[in-house]
Amino acid sequence: MTAGVSDIGIYVPNYYLPHEELAKARGIPVEKYHIGLGNYNMAIIPNWEDAVTMAANAALQLLERNNIDPDEIRQLVVSTESGVDHSKPVASFVQGLLNIGTRCRTYEIKHACYGGTAGLIDSIEWISRHTKFKPKGIVIMTDIAKYGFGTLGEATQGAGAVALLVETNPRLFSVDTLLNGIFSKNVFDFWRPTGHRVPIVDGQYSIECYLMALEGAVSHFRSNLGLKEGELLESLDYLIYHMPYTKMAKKAHRHFVEIEHKDLDPEGQEEIFEESFKKKVAPGLKGVQEVGNIYTGSVYMGLVSILEKEREKVENKKIGLFSYGSGCGAEFFLCQMNSGIGDIVKSLRFQEQLDSRKKITFEQYIQLYSKSGEEILYYPEETKGFKNKFTRFVFTGFKEHKRQYV
Ligand code: CAA
Repeated sequence: MTAGVSDIGIYVPNYYLPHEELAKARGIPVEKYHIGLGNYNMAIIPNWEDAVTMAANAALQLLERNNIDPDEIRQLVVSTESGVDHSKPVASFVQGLLNIGTRCRTYEIKHACYGGTAGLIDSIEWISRHTKFKPKGIVIMTDIAKYGFGTLGEATQGAGAVALLVETNPRLFSVDTLLNGIFSKNVFDFWRPTGHRVPIVDGQYSIECYLMALEGAVSHFRSNLGLKEGELLESLDYLIYHMPYTKMAKKAHRHFVEIEHKDLDPEGQEEIFEESFKKKVAPGLKGVQEVGNIYTGSVYMGLVSILEKEREKVENKKIGLFSYGSGCGAEFFLCQMNSGIGDIVKSLRFQEQLDSRKKITFEQYIQLYSKSGEEILYYPEETKGFKNKFTRFVFTGFKEHKRQYV
């Protein structure tokens, strides 16, 4: 039986810092960020939000829009590299906030930015085997991409969550998971040792590892499909790459064209790159340009961006999706879009969420980012001002070492 995704919920924090402000404060030409990295604004998470609240805020959209009784959810998987506890999974907090029943398998999954894709593929495979009960599952990717102040990665920060509703006979897209192209290898390109608040990054090497993984996953996928070199790019209508920053999508697509058209000279490759990038990749860039890196949810924010930009044009189309996680693990797979998706696209309201955010100054960014969750305590009454139609859950601090949410 076919399984896949029926709806997508997306949540980004209410605040953003323009790269213009960051450039001024850091004494760096703004062109380095706007042209060199391709980013314009980055989401900044306040200390009354965390991986749990973003996950719950994204997943609540799925329950409300689809009139789902929380008891119908039989699998709840949360992928994050911004976990709030070494033992208790983010999924359990989300289960509580959304009133999901006890007959649900809940767990957290980690493999850097790739973890959400591993969770999604597992859920699709599990749900497609359940021909008798036709269960529903939710897979959530939630992360805070936080780098050290003043580091090279600082300009690629961001935060957000994406929630996917997984079902049999999906309304949005299906995936034939047996065809997926896979690559993994033990490397140290980006990692966060236990106890470190920010990652350790070998930036240029991380780009090399990413491109190596892309080549491995693409060639595996192409051979699973029985296609020859040069035929894969032609067969796809859109491509979404993992996007730690916007320019990475360009680097990835350029490499994809080189792998596909090895026999062409550089001019011929460049021509194919320019044309296919504009048509097949650029429609998915809005999220990363405005929000930055959201780690596990990055590719799925790219999908939301394509859906809002292209709308019904995406019906029945083939979208190739490349998910990469440092460390490293990667998967290239095909989303076969359905017809009749107009209502789902209308209800995404991602652009509306972006437009409703508040711009902050560099000084406010420093204040928000320096305070850790361990230092806060809000009374539930105080948090009313933090809530709005997208922010429905907030973190209020600890009581007896237990995280509290309202
Ligand atoms: N005007 C226009 N462009 C400029 C410029 C200016 N004034 N100054 C610099 N640039 C350009 C550079 O030419 C360069 O362009 P190309 O990449 O096309 O060569 C670009 O701006 C970036 O500049 P640098 O090469 O000097 O790179 P950097 O030292 O600033 O570091 C980075 C960039 C490595 C991505 C760094 O931001 C970083 O470490 N980021 C975090 C790690 C990361 O995102 N890695 C990506 C792959 S790993 C992954 O994908 C997992 C994940 O999510 C983390």
